[in-house]
Amino acid sequence: MELQYWMKRISLNYWSDENNMSIITKAVFPVAGMGSRFLPATKATAKEMLPIVDKPLIQYAVEEAIEAGVTDMVFITGRHKRAIEDHFDKAYELEAELAANGKDELLRIVQSVVPKSVNCIYIRQSEPLGLGHAVLCAKPVVQDEPFAVLLADDLIDGQPSVMKQMVDVFAQYQSSILGVQEVPRANTRQYGIVSSTNLDTNIERVHGIVEKPKPDVAPSTLAVVGRYILTPRIFDHLENVRPGAGGEIQLTDGIAALLEEERLLAYRFNGTRYDCGSKLGYLKAQVAYGLKHKELSADFADYLKSL
Ligand code: G1P
Repeated sequence: MELQYWMKRISLNYWSDENNMSIITKAVFPVAGMGSRFLPATKATAKEMLPIVDKPLIQYAVEEAIEAGVTDMVFITGRHKRAIEDHFDKAYELEAELAANGKDELLRIVQSVVPKSVNCIYIRQSEPLGLGHAVLCAKPVVQDEPFAVLLADDLIDGQPSVMKQMVDVFAQYQSSILGVQEVPRANTRQYGIVSSTNLDTNIERVHGIVEKPKPDVAPSTLAVVGRYILTPRIFDHLENVRPGAGGEIQLTDGIAALLEEERLLAYRFNGTRYDCGSKLGYLKAQVAYGLKHKELSADFADYLKSL
């Protein structure tokens, strides 16, 4: 095992899909956050369970990971997050009732929330110590493999999905990758911001990254938006990161340390991102997804026009 690992590291194809398997098989979903911006809706349920039309945010993120070839979904959960576990579990009573009532289409929808080939793994983050700490909680499961991180409140509509686009970039470059987009300078304080130089179409080489800088000191307006592919060295750095912005153990600070020893890329993804961590972004997502929903789109468009 050890020998195999080092052979992989020294081979040209560091982590490759030589067996025709996906190179990124594990995705981490930090879902322990309080969701205080959506209170009281999130008083007794997880913010990741808020629906966009008829699917919870976390399901969009999981579907994106599945499209990218991920088979192991690692949820970093906290108190009041049982609904997420139940959502991705079998619902015996509900399925029996739908079957008994001949509601076949609904039964199919309920049963297809995750394919049988997908594993869901739950790790409790007992204290809300920050995003970096949440990702570190996944170390025992991820171990020595590159892995994806998806923040469910960044809902991104992409064709193919943004994580699929990033896995393809990873296959080519074998380096950690951050999903990025330009944001207004006034908003840099909400994001990890990178400084970079262009490497290829839509691909930047990152030289620095800072968490939530004020607009006047932000190194650029290129912001990280909730999609990461990281090499496992990140865990070593996260173990040593001290509390940063907001007194939390920041993923951004771990990435800044990783950057000292490995090439780091930023990928300008193709897709539309909705900041569903904010009420306005959430409403915009409802409208956009309502307008493209196969049963609702025409009626919903008529309704919007009538306003
Ligand atoms: C987190 C990250 C930040 C990133 C953002 C994307 O911040 O810490 O670097 O830019 O997600 O949504 P949060 O939104 O959790 O405060």
